[in-house]
Amino acid sequence: MQEIKFYNGENIPLELHKVRVVQKLNLVPVERRLEALYEGGFNTFRLTTKDVFLDMLTDSGTNAMSDNQMAAMMQADDAYAGSQSFVRLQKAVEDVLGKKYLLPVHQGRAAENILANAYIRKGSLIPMNYHFTTTMAHITQQGGKIVELLYDEAYNLNSDYPFKGNMNIEKLEEAITVHGAKNIPFIRMEASTNLIGGQPFSIKNLRDVRAVADKYGIRLVLDASLLGENAYLIVKREEEFQNASIGEVIQLMTELSDIVYFSARKLSSSRGGGICTNDMGVYRDLEPLIPLFEGFLTYGGISSREIEAMAVGLYETLDETVICQSPGFIEYLVNALDKNGIPVVKPAGVLGAHVNAMEICSHIPQKEYPAGALAAALYLISGVRGMERGSVSNQRDEYGNETYADMELVRLAIPRRVFTLSQIKYVEDRMIWLYKNRHLIGGLRFVYEPPVLRFFMGGLEPVNDWPQKLMAKFKEDFGESL
Ligand code: F0G
Repeated sequence: MQEIKFYNGENIPLELHKVRVVQKLNLVPVERRLEALYEGGFNTFRLTTKDVFLDMLTDSGTNAMSDNQMAAMMQADDAYAGSQSFVRLQKAVEDVLGKKYLLPVHQGRAAENILANAYIRKGSLIPMNYHFTTTMAHITQQGGKIVELLYDEAYNLNSDYPFKGNMNIEKLEEAITVHGAKNIPFIRMEASTNLIGGQPFSIKNLRDVRAVADKYGIRLVLDASLLGENAYLIVKREEEFQNASIGEVIQLMTELSDIVYFSARKLSSSRGGGICTNDMGVYRDLEPLIPLFEGFLTYGGISSREIEAMAVGLYETLDETVICQSPGFIEYLVNALDKNGIPVVKPAGVLGAHVNAMEICSHIPQKEYPAGALAAALYLISGVRGMERGSVSNQRDEYGNETYADMELVRLAIPRRVFTLSQIKYVEDRMIWLYKNRHLIGGLRFVYEPPVLRFFMGGLEPVNDWPQKLMAKFKEDFGESL
């Protein structure tokens, strides 16, 4: 792995790209930001981008596209059936992911819907390293259940364990023995486990999971949405692969899996998604569902232009200079926050920096959503939009009871090649101020709670006038500065 050293010894992630198209940003005054919070129900999903300065909500569909991706979009073949754009995508999937059969879907959760429809029945159990929100929603929607099998270290937020996304092999065997292999349609491994802070698993662990899957005759499904980043961290952290290329590691990961699905909004810096496999039986199980839910089998609800961008983006996933930029910035921000004593998920993972709201807002009980409150407070004092990844993002249990999240995190996503280092330094600065003034942050309560995936459109309100007090302190310290 290449590293560029600075003469003065500083450890700075250097951008290996140049900016050729720009988009103007708005940093609106703090008074407007307060209004925007009330209008958006203290839910950062409901802010509009004219009120947002640095959009760190997600990397989904927000990674910068390359010149080659944009150029490829111009050669799109808009045929309903048999499009050459799809042929190019199939080739890219085979070259990069090593799978012959591809089912296109409009995004990652659509793949989850297809898989859940095909394989989940009432009483099914899906063992996984950890859930993702949409994955769990689709499995439970079909009457299935999930079980999360991480090692204890994964729940230690202040850790230096390199592979917190590893599946607990002993617990996996136990779950299979207790529930019976026939009730387990597949085991799911999520690359760069999102909700625990973008934490990778190792190849060694995936091989162990594969061995268990083989022993009991259960399929292994890989959620490859953040595959490139997981492969990058394997090269950096797993000794056996220190001289391997990202492409070689990706091939190994997909080879070990029977079914690979992904959100192309992340994996290939485009839109769209896909499910791929080398097993014709699996292909035949899923095929009829694509025209039913997505579109014809050569576009799957994705525009032909995006299919072209996907194909090029998949090849670019093999380029270390494309993949390393986001984890490099994340590591920089995590180290900077950590140095200032701000509780943040360690080691640095991928996707974003994840600050630990449970600790920062330890004065706010979980029933008042500390991560939601911290995300709202950070937006108020900076215009930076992060995402709540705590109890608001959890779903109620089958009896309607609140289930509190293992971790209350605010994710500050750093999409690929979007931000500059001075913008990252701005986030660092405002987080330091907010941490010093954290006692001014208060709780939230729901005023509108949708029954499914409530975090997207739910509305909350502050339990008292803490936002006004926080704003007053901001103005006292920053004067007329935005
Ligand atoms: N799996 C993982 C690991 C994801 O991170 C996501 C999306 C999906 C599946 C669903 O894909 O959005 O294309 O339908 N994660 C986004 C995020 C939404 O912000 O982390 P999708």
